[in-house]
Amino acid sequence: MNILILGSGGREHSLAWAVMQNPKCDRLIVAPGNAGIAEIAECAALNIEDGGAVTVFAEENAIDFVIVGPEAPLAAGVSDRLRAAGFLVFGPSGAAARLEASKAFTKQICDAAGAPTAAYGHFSDAASAKAYVQAQGAPIVIKADGLAAGKGVIIAETVADAETAVDEMFSGAFGDAGTEVVIEEFMQGEEASFFVLCDGEDVLPIGTAQDHKRVGEGDTGPNTGGMGAYSPAPVMTDDVVQAALDQIVKPTMAEMARQGIPYQGVLFVGLMIENGVPRLVEYNVRFGDPECQVLMMRLGAQVLDLLQACAEGRLADTQVNWAADHALTVVLAAKGYPGAYEKGSVIGGLEHLPEDSSHMVFHAGTGRASGQYIAQGGRVLAVTARAQTLSDARDEAYAMVDDIDWPDGFCRRDIGWRALSGD
Ligand code: AMP
Ligand code: GLY
Repeated sequence: MNILILGSGGREHSLAWAVMQNPKCDRLIVAPGNAGIAEIAECAALNIEDGGAVTVFAEENAIDFVIVGPEAPLAAGVSDRLRAAGFLVFGPSGAAARLEASKAFTKQICDAAGAPTAAYGHFSDAASAKAYVQAQGAPIVIKADGLAAGKGVIIAETVADAETAVDEMFSGAFGDAGTEVVIEEFMQGEEASFFVLCDGEDVLPIGTAQDHKRVGEGDTGPNTGGMGAYSPAPVMTDDVVQAALDQIVKPTMAEMARQGIPYQGVLFVGLMIENGVPRLVEYNVRFGDPECQVLMMRLGAQVLDLLQACAEGRLADTQVNWAADHALTVVLAAKGYPGAYEKGSVIGGLEHLPEDSSHMVFHAGTGRASGQYIAQGGRVLAVTARAQTLSDARDEAYAMVDDIDWPDGFCRRDIGWRALSGD
Protein backbone atom coordinates (compact mmCIF):
# COMPACT_ATOMS: atom_id res chain seq x y z
CA MET A 1 0.00 0.00 0.00
CA ASN A 2 1.26 3.50 -0.86
CA ILE A 3 0.27 5.87 1.91
CA LEU A 4 0.25 9.67 2.12
CA ILE A 5 0.01 11.40 5.50
CA LEU A 6 -0.75 15.14 5.49
CA GLY A 7 0.84 17.25 8.24
CA SER A 8 4.14 18.20 9.80
CA GLY A 9 3.88 17.90 13.59
CA GLY A 10 4.58 15.44 16.36
CA ARG A 11 1.13 14.00 15.72
CA GLU A 12 2.07 13.14 12.14
CA HIS A 13 5.48 11.77 13.15
CA SER A 14 3.77 9.36 15.55
CA LEU A 15 1.15 8.38 12.93
CA ALA A 16 3.95 7.74 10.42
CA TRP A 17 5.93 5.74 13.00
CA ALA A 18 2.95 3.47 13.75
CA VAL A 19 1.86 3.08 10.12
CA MET A 20 5.43 2.21 9.01
CA GLN A 21 5.49 -0.76 11.36
CA ASN A 22 2.62 -2.42 9.53
CA PRO A 23 3.82 -4.80 6.80
CA LYS A 24 0.98 -3.58 4.56
CA CYS A 25 2.77 -0.25 4.20
CA ASP A 26 4.99 -0.39 1.09
CA ARG A 27 5.72 3.29 0.66
CA LEU A 28 5.05 6.20 3.01
CA ILE A 29 5.13 9.87 2.07
CA VAL A 30 4.46 12.61 4.62
CA ALA A 31 3.70 16.09 3.31
CA PRO A 32 5.23 18.39 4.28
CA GLY A 33 6.78 16.40 7.16
CA ASN A 34 9.74 17.52 9.28
CA ALA A 35 13.34 16.51 9.98
CA GLY A 36 12.38 13.67 12.33
CA ILE A 37 9.80 12.27 9.93
CA ALA A 38 12.41 12.38 7.16
CA GLU A 39 14.36 9.74 9.10
CA ILE A 40 11.58 7.18 8.63
CA ALA A 41 9.58 8.26 5.55
CA GLU A 42 9.79 10.34 2.39
CA CYS A 43 8.83 13.97 2.88
CA ALA A 44 7.36 16.15 0.12
CA ALA A 45 6.76 19.89 -0.03
CA LEU A 46 3.05 20.38 -0.71
CA ASN A 47 0.40 22.94 0.21
CA ILE A 48 -1.82 20.53 2.13
CA GLU A 49 -4.76 22.95 2.28
CA ASP A 50 -4.97 22.99 -1.53
CA GLY A 51 -7.23 20.05 -2.38
CA GLY A 52 -6.40 20.26 -6.08
CA ALA A 53 -2.65 20.13 -5.46
CA VAL A 54 -2.99 17.24 -2.98
CA THR A 55 -5.13 15.27 -5.46
CA VAL A 56 -2.62 15.74 -8.29
CA PHE A 57 0.21 14.70 -5.96
CA ALA A 58 -1.70 11.58 -4.88
CA GLU A 59 -2.33 10.66 -8.53
CA GLU A 60 1.30 11.18 -9.52
CA ASN A 61 2.50 8.99 -6.66
CA ALA A 62 -0.07 6.19 -7.05
CA ILE A 63 -1.30 6.71 -3.49
CA ASP A 64 -3.75 4.10 -2.15
CA PHE A 65 -4.64 5.73 1.16
CA VAL A 66 -4.49 9.30 2.45
CA ILE A 67 -4.46 10.05 6.20
CA VAL A 68 -5.20 13.68 7.05
CA GLY A 69 -3.53 14.87 10.28
CA PRO A 70 -4.55 18.49 11.06
CA GLU A 71 -7.92 20.23 11.03
CA ALA A 72 -7.14 22.98 8.50
CA PRO A 73 -7.10 20.74 5.38
CA LEU A 74 -10.20 18.95 6.67
CA ALA A 75 -12.08 22.22 7.16
CA ALA A 76 -10.87 23.28 3.69
CA GLY A 77 -12.52 20.20 2.15
CA VAL A 78 -9.32 18.45 1.05
CA SER A 79 -10.80 15.03 1.89
CA ASP A 80 -13.84 15.81 -0.30
CA ARG A 81 -11.60 16.60 -3.28
CA LEU A 82 -9.62 13.40 -2.76
CA ARG A 83 -12.71 11.23 -2.38
CA ALA A 84 -14.29 12.77 -5.47
CA ALA A 85 -11.16 11.69 -7.36
CA GLY A 86 -11.59 8.14 -6.08
CA PHE A 87 -9.03 8.05 -3.24
CA LEU A 88 -9.52 6.24 0.04
CA VAL A 89 -9.22 8.91 2.76
CA PHE A 90 -9.12 8.89 6.55
CA GLY A 91 -10.70 12.13 7.73
CA PRO A 92 -14.12 13.80 7.65
CA SER A 93 -15.66 15.86 4.86
CA GLY A 94 -15.46 19.64 5.04
CA ALA A 95 -19.13 19.73 6.10
CA ALA A 96 -18.57 17.20 8.92
CA ALA A 97 -15.37 19.01 10.01
CA ARG A 98 -17.63 21.83 11.21
CA LEU A 99 -17.81 19.83 14.45
CA GLU A 100 -14.46 21.50 15.13
CA ALA A 101 -14.60 24.50 12.79
CA SER A 102 -17.81 25.95 14.28
CA LYS A 103 -18.65 25.88 17.96
CA ALA A 104 -22.19 27.07 17.22
CA PHE A 105 -22.69 24.15 14.79
CA THR A 106 -21.52 21.70 17.47
CA LYS A 107 -23.89 23.19 20.01
CA GLN A 108 -26.81 22.86 17.59
CA ILE A 109 -25.94 19.22 16.90
CA CYS A 110 -25.67 18.53 20.65
CA ASP A 111 -29.07 20.15 21.23
CA ALA A 112 -30.67 18.03 18.51
CA ALA A 113 -28.91 14.88 19.80
CA GLY A 114 -29.63 15.55 23.48
CA ALA A 115 -25.89 15.29 24.27
CA PRO A 116 -24.99 16.86 27.63
CA THR A 117 -22.83 19.98 27.29
CA ALA A 118 -22.58 23.45 28.84
CA ALA A 119 -25.61 25.76 28.58
CA TYR A 120 -24.87 28.47 26.02
CA GLY A 121 -25.93 31.42 23.94
CA HIS A 122 -24.82 32.27 20.39
CA PHE A 123 -24.33 35.93 19.41
CA SER A 124 -23.36 38.04 16.44
CA ASP A 125 -23.28 41.43 18.19
CA ALA A 126 -21.61 42.70 21.35
CA ALA A 127 -24.68 44.24 22.99
CA SER A 128 -26.72 41.05 23.14
CA ALA A 129 -23.63 39.04 24.13
CA LYS A 130 -23.03 41.41 27.07
CA ALA A 131 -26.68 41.28 28.11
CA TYR A 132 -26.35 37.46 28.28
CA VAL A 133 -23.14 37.74 30.33
CA GLN A 134 -24.83 40.09 32.79
CA ALA A 135 -27.81 37.78 33.13
CA GLN A 136 -25.64 34.68 33.69
CA GLY A 137 -22.88 36.12 35.90
CA ALA A 138 -19.31 34.80 36.22
CA PRO A 139 -17.29 32.63 35.88
CA ILE A 140 -18.31 32.28 32.27
CA VAL A 141 -16.60 31.11 29.07
CA ILE A 142 -16.39 33.26 25.92
CA LYS A 143 -15.51 31.45 22.66
CA ALA A 144 -14.85 32.68 19.14
CA ASP A 145 -17.08 30.58 16.89
CA GLY A 146 -14.50 29.62 14.25
CA LEU A 147 -11.04 28.02 14.13
CA ALA A 148 -8.63 30.15 16.16
CA ALA A 149 -5.67 27.76 16.56
CA GLY A 150 -6.72 26.88 20.09
CA LYS A 151 -6.64 30.51 21.22
CA GLY A 152 -10.25 31.59 20.85
CA VAL A 153 -11.42 30.58 24.34
CA ILE A 154 -11.43 32.96 27.29
CA ILE A 155 -12.46 31.84 30.75
CA ALA A 156 -13.65 35.02 32.46
CA GLU A 157 -13.60 35.10 36.26
CA THR A 158 -15.66 38.30 36.47
CA VAL A 159 -18.46 39.90 34.45
CA ALA A 160 -16.11 42.83 33.64
CA ASP A 161 -13.49 40.42 32.20
CA ALA A 162 -16.21 38.69 30.20
CA GLU A 163 -17.37 42.01 28.74
CA THR A 164 -13.80 42.90 27.78
CA ALA A 165 -13.45 39.50 26.07
CA VAL A 166 -16.69 40.07 24.15
CA ASP A 167 -15.42 43.46 22.95
CA GLU A 168 -12.09 41.96 21.92
CA MET A 169 -13.70 39.20 19.91
CA PHE A 170 -16.10 41.50 18.09
CA SER A 171 -13.30 44.00 17.39
CA GLY A 172 -11.40 41.33 15.44
CA ALA A 173 -8.82 40.00 17.95
CA PHE A 174 -9.39 36.51 16.51
CA GLY A 175 -10.04 37.61 12.93
CA ASP A 176 -12.99 36.03 11.17
CA ALA A 177 -13.18 33.34 13.85
CA GLY A 178 -14.62 35.98 16.21
CA THR A 179 -17.41 37.47 14.09
CA GLU A 180 -19.74 35.09 15.92
CA VAL A 181 -19.34 34.29 19.59
CA VAL A 182 -20.56 31.44 21.76
CA ILE A 183 -20.90 32.11 25.50
CA GLU A 184 -21.00 29.09 27.78
CA GLU A 185 -21.61 28.07 31.33
CA PHE A 186 -18.30 27.34 33.12
CA MET A 187 -18.19 23.61 33.83
CA GLN A 188 -16.47 22.25 36.94
CA GLY A 189 -14.70 18.90 37.00
CA GLU A 190 -11.73 17.05 35.54
CA GLU A 191 -10.98 17.19 31.83
CA ALA A 192 -10.11 14.17 29.72
CA SER A 193 -9.92 13.33 26.03
CA PHE A 194 -11.62 10.36 24.45
CA PHE A 195 -10.71 9.18 20.94
CA VAL A 196 -13.27 7.32 18.87
CA LEU A 197 -13.09 6.13 15.26
CA CYS A 198 -16.36 6.72 13.40
CA ASP A 199 -17.21 5.41 9.93
CA GLY A 200 -20.51 7.21 9.42
CA GLU A 201 -22.44 4.42 11.08
CA ASP A 202 -20.41 2.57 13.71
CA VAL A 203 -18.01 3.80 16.38
CA LEU A 204 -14.88 2.21 17.85
CA PRO A 205 -13.16 3.70 20.92
CA ILE A 206 -9.37 3.66 20.58
CA GLY A 207 -8.18 5.23 23.79
CA THR A 208 -8.28 7.96 26.39
CA ALA A 209 -5.71 10.59 27.36
CA GLN A 210 -5.15 13.72 29.36
CA ASP A 211 -2.96 16.59 28.29
CA HIS A 212 -1.44 19.58 30.04
CA LYS A 213 -2.50 22.73 28.22
CA ARG A 214 -0.85 25.34 30.46
CA VAL A 215 2.79 26.21 29.97
CA GLY A 216 3.75 26.21 33.66
CA GLU A 217 4.15 23.53 36.30
CA GLY A 218 1.08 22.87 38.41
CA ASP A 219 -1.02 23.76 35.33
CA THR A 220 -0.37 27.49 35.58
CA GLY A 221 0.38 30.24 33.06
CA PRO A 222 -0.85 30.76 29.50
CA ASN A 223 -2.47 28.08 27.38
CA THR A 224 -0.39 26.20 24.80
CA GLY A 225 -1.12 23.53 22.22
CA GLY A 226 -0.22 21.00 24.93
CA MET A 227 2.98 20.49 26.99
CA GLY A 228 2.60 16.76 27.57
CA ALA A 229 0.06 13.96 27.77
CA TYR A 230 -0.51 10.47 29.05
CA SER A 231 -2.76 7.54 28.25
CA PRO A 232 -4.96 6.07 29.62
CA ALA A 233 -6.73 8.78 31.63
CA PRO A 234 -7.63 7.33 35.06
CA VAL A 235 -10.79 9.46 35.25
CA MET A 236 -12.09 7.63 32.15
CA THR A 237 -13.35 4.56 33.98
CA ASP A 238 -15.36 1.94 32.07
CA ASP A 239 -18.58 3.55 33.30
CA VAL A 240 -17.53 7.03 32.17
CA VAL A 241 -16.44 5.66 28.77
CA GLN A 242 -19.78 3.91 28.34
CA ALA A 243 -21.73 7.02 29.37
CA ALA A 244 -19.71 9.18 26.96
CA LEU A 245 -20.38 6.71 24.13
CA ASP A 246 -24.09 6.26 24.84
CA GLN A 247 -25.01 9.82 25.76
CA ILE A 248 -22.61 11.92 23.67
CA VAL A 249 -20.75 10.16 20.82
CA LYS A 250 -23.42 7.83 19.42
CA PRO A 251 -26.28 10.39 19.50
CA THR A 252 -23.98 12.96 17.84
CA MET A 253 -23.02 10.54 15.09
CA ALA A 254 -26.66 9.55 14.55
CA GLU A 255 -27.67 13.21 14.31
CA MET A 256 -24.88 13.93 11.82
CA ALA A 257 -26.06 11.02 9.66
CA ARG A 258 -29.67 12.15 9.98
CA GLN A 259 -28.69 15.61 8.73
CA GLY A 260 -26.96 14.06 5.71
CA ILE A 261 -23.42 14.79 6.94
CA PRO A 262 -22.12 11.42 8.15
CA TYR A 263 -18.83 11.70 10.03
CA GLN A 264 -15.86 9.52 9.04
CA GLY A 265 -12.55 9.79 10.82
CA VAL A 266 -11.34 10.11 14.39
CA LEU A 267 -13.54 12.09 16.75
CA PHE A 268 -11.55 13.75 19.55
CA VAL A 269 -14.09 14.13 22.34
CA GLY A 270 -13.05 16.70 24.96
CA LEU A 271 -14.95 15.91 28.16
CA MET A 272 -15.48 17.48 31.57
CA ILE A 273 -16.18 14.81 34.18
CA GLU A 274 -17.80 15.70 37.47
CA ASN A 275 -18.88 13.01 39.93
CA GLY A 276 -18.58 10.35 37.24
CA VAL A 277 -20.80 12.25 34.80
CA PRO A 278 -19.22 13.31 31.49
CA ARG A 279 -20.27 16.43 29.60
CA LEU A 280 -18.91 17.59 26.26
CA VAL A 281 -16.44 20.50 26.23
CA GLU A 282 -15.66 20.33 22.54
CA TYR A 283 -15.16 18.09 19.55
CA ASN A 284 -12.07 18.09 17.37
CA VAL A 285 -12.06 16.31 14.03
CA ARG A 286 -8.47 15.00 14.27
CA PHE A 287 -6.12 13.40 16.75
CA GLY A 288 -4.84 15.64 19.52
CA ASP A 289 -1.23 16.74 19.57
CA PRO A 290 0.48 15.49 21.80
CA GLU A 291 -2.31 13.02 22.72
CA CYS A 292 -1.76 11.21 19.41
CA GLN A 293 1.84 10.43 20.36
CA VAL A 294 0.80 8.42 23.43
CA LEU A 295 -2.07 6.71 21.62
CA MET A 296 0.15 5.67 18.70
CA MET A 297 2.80 4.32 21.03
CA ARG A 298 0.20 2.16 22.76
CA LEU A 299 -1.55 0.96 19.59
CA GLY A 300 1.50 0.40 17.35
CA ALA A 301 1.24 -1.26 13.94
CA GLN A 302 -2.51 -2.04 14.17
CA VAL A 303 -3.15 1.68 13.66
CA LEU A 304 -3.00 1.27 9.88
CA ASP A 305 -5.60 -1.54 9.96
CA LEU A 306 -7.86 0.53 12.21
CA LEU A 307 -7.66 3.71 10.11
CA GLN A 308 -8.20 1.72 6.92
CA ALA A 309 -11.23 -0.10 8.38
CA CYS A 310 -12.60 3.29 9.42
CA ALA A 311 -12.14 4.77 5.94
CA GLU A 312 -13.68 1.67 4.31
CA GLY A 313 -16.72 1.65 6.63
CA ARG A 314 -15.82 -1.67 8.28
CA LEU A 315 -15.69 -0.66 11.96
CA ALA A 316 -18.56 -3.00 12.87
CA ASP A 317 -16.19 -5.95 12.21
CA THR A 318 -13.06 -4.37 13.67
CA GLN A 319 -11.48 -4.79 17.09
CA VAL A 320 -8.70 -3.05 18.94
CA ASN A 321 -6.00 -5.15 20.61
CA TRP A 322 -5.41 -3.54 23.95
CA ALA A 323 -2.42 -3.92 26.19
CA ALA A 324 -2.55 -3.00 29.88
CA ASP A 325 0.20 -0.43 29.39
CA HIS A 326 0.70 3.29 29.93
CA ALA A 327 2.37 5.91 27.79
CA LEU A 328 3.52 9.42 28.63
CA THR A 329 4.96 12.17 26.47
CA VAL A 330 6.88 15.29 27.51
CA VAL A 331 6.94 18.23 25.09
CA LEU A 332 10.19 20.15 24.71
CA ALA A 333 9.45 23.69 23.55
CA ALA A 334 11.60 26.66 22.55
CA LYS A 335 12.20 29.10 25.44
CA GLY A 336 9.57 31.85 25.22
CA TYR A 337 6.80 29.59 23.86
CA PRO A 338 3.80 30.17 23.75
CA GLY A 339 5.01 33.77 23.32
CA ALA A 340 7.84 34.86 21.00
CA TYR A 341 10.76 32.44 20.62
CA GLU A 342 13.93 32.08 18.54
CA LYS A 343 14.34 29.58 15.75
CA GLY A 344 17.54 27.90 14.64
CA SER A 345 19.15 26.69 17.89
CA VAL A 346 20.99 23.36 17.72
CA ILE A 347 19.55 20.28 19.46
CA GLY A 348 22.14 17.69 20.48
CA GLY A 349 22.04 14.21 21.91
CA LEU A 350 19.13 12.83 19.87
CA GLU A 351 21.34 10.30 18.07
CA HIS A 352 22.07 8.40 21.28
CA LEU A 353 18.51 7.96 22.52
CA PRO A 354 16.73 4.60 22.35
CA GLU A 355 14.21 4.19 19.53
CA ASP A 356 12.05 1.12 19.93
CA SER A 357 8.42 0.15 20.48
CA SER A 358 8.50 1.76 23.95
CA HIS A 359 10.73 4.80 23.39
CA MET A 360 10.51 7.47 20.71
CA VAL A 361 11.34 11.11 20.32
CA PHE A 362 8.65 12.43 17.99
CA HIS A 363 9.64 15.62 16.18
CA ALA A 364 7.20 18.51 16.01
CA GLY A 365 9.22 21.49 14.84
CA THR A 366 12.70 20.49 13.70
CA GLY A 367 14.86 20.97 10.65
CA ARG A 368 18.39 20.00 9.60
CA ALA A 369 21.30 22.38 9.05
CA SER A 370 24.98 21.47 8.68
CA GLY A 371 24.25 17.88 9.67
CA GLN A 372 22.57 18.87 12.94
CA TYR A 373 19.00 19.05 14.17
CA ILE A 374 17.76 22.60 14.72
CA ALA A 375 14.62 23.94 16.38
CA GLN A 376 12.13 25.42 13.96
CA GLY A 377 8.95 25.83 15.94
CA GLY A 378 7.42 26.53 19.36
CA ARG A 379 6.78 22.94 20.33
CA VAL A 380 9.81 21.08 19.02
CA LEU A 381 9.97 17.50 20.38
CA ALA A 382 7.59 15.08 22.10
CA VAL A 383 9.67 12.65 24.14
CA THR A 384 7.53 9.56 24.58
CA ALA A 385 7.83 6.34 26.59
CA ARG A 386 5.60 3.33 27.30
CA ALA A 387 5.76 1.02 30.32
CA GLN A 388 3.70 -1.22 32.57
CA THR A 389 2.93 1.64 34.94
CA LEU A 390 2.47 5.35 34.41
CA SER A 391 5.23 6.20 36.85
CA ASP A 392 7.70 3.99 34.94
CA ALA A 393 6.62 5.58 31.66
CA ARG A 394 7.18 9.01 33.22
CA ASP A 395 10.62 8.09 34.58
CA GLU A 396 11.73 6.70 31.23
CA ALA A 397 10.45 9.72 29.32
CA TYR A 398 12.28 12.14 31.65
CA ALA A 399 15.46 10.03 31.47
CA MET A 400 15.37 10.58 27.70
CA VAL A 401 14.65 14.30 28.17
CA ASP A 402 17.71 14.57 30.41
CA ASP A 403 19.91 13.10 27.67
CA ILE A 404 18.88 15.79 25.20
CA ASP A 405 21.27 18.69 24.94
CA TRP A 406 19.20 21.74 24.04
CA PRO A 407 19.97 24.81 26.20
CA ASP A 408 17.38 26.90 24.32
CA GLY A 409 14.54 24.53 25.11
CA PHE A 410 12.45 23.82 28.19
CA CYS A 411 9.81 21.38 29.39
CA ARG A 412 7.46 20.94 32.30
CA ARG A 413 8.83 18.51 34.88
CA ASP A 414 5.41 17.49 36.23
CA ILE A 415 3.66 15.81 33.30
CA GLY A 416 1.22 13.24 34.66
CA TRP A 417 1.08 14.78 38.15
CA ARG A 418 -2.65 14.53 38.53
CA ALA A 419 -2.74 10.82 37.67
CA LEU A 420 0.41 10.13 39.71
CA SER A 421 -0.46 12.11 42.82
CA GLY A 422 -1.74 8.95 44.50
CA ASP A 423 1.75 7.32 44.27
P1 AMP B 1 -11.84 24.48 23.73
O1 AMP B 1 -11.01 25.15 22.67
O2 AMP B 1 -13.32 24.59 23.54
O3 AMP B 1 -11.35 23.10 24.03
O4 AMP B 1 -11.47 25.21 25.10
C1 AMP B 1 -10.15 25.24 25.56
C2 AMP B 1 -10.13 24.88 27.03
O5 AMP B 1 -10.94 25.81 27.76
C3 AMP B 1 -10.75 23.53 27.34
O6 AMP B 1 -9.83 22.49 27.15
C4 AMP B 1 -11.14 23.71 28.77
O7 AMP B 1 -10.02 23.58 29.63
C5 AMP B 1 -11.60 25.13 28.82
N1 AMP B 1 -13.04 25.22 28.63
C6 AMP B 1 -13.69 25.37 27.46
N2 AMP B 1 -15.02 25.43 27.64
C7 AMP B 1 -15.23 25.30 28.96
C8 AMP B 1 -16.40 25.30 29.79
N3 AMP B 1 -17.62 25.47 29.27
N4 AMP B 1 -16.21 25.14 31.11
C9 AMP B 1 -14.99 25.01 31.65
N5 AMP B 1 -13.86 25.02 30.93
C10 AMP B 1 -13.97 25.17 29.61
N1 GLY C 1 -3.61 18.90 22.68
C1 GLY C 1 -4.85 19.47 22.33
C2 GLY C 1 -5.17 19.52 20.91
O1 GLY C 1 -4.55 18.88 20.08
O2 GLY C 1 -6.12 20.20 20.55
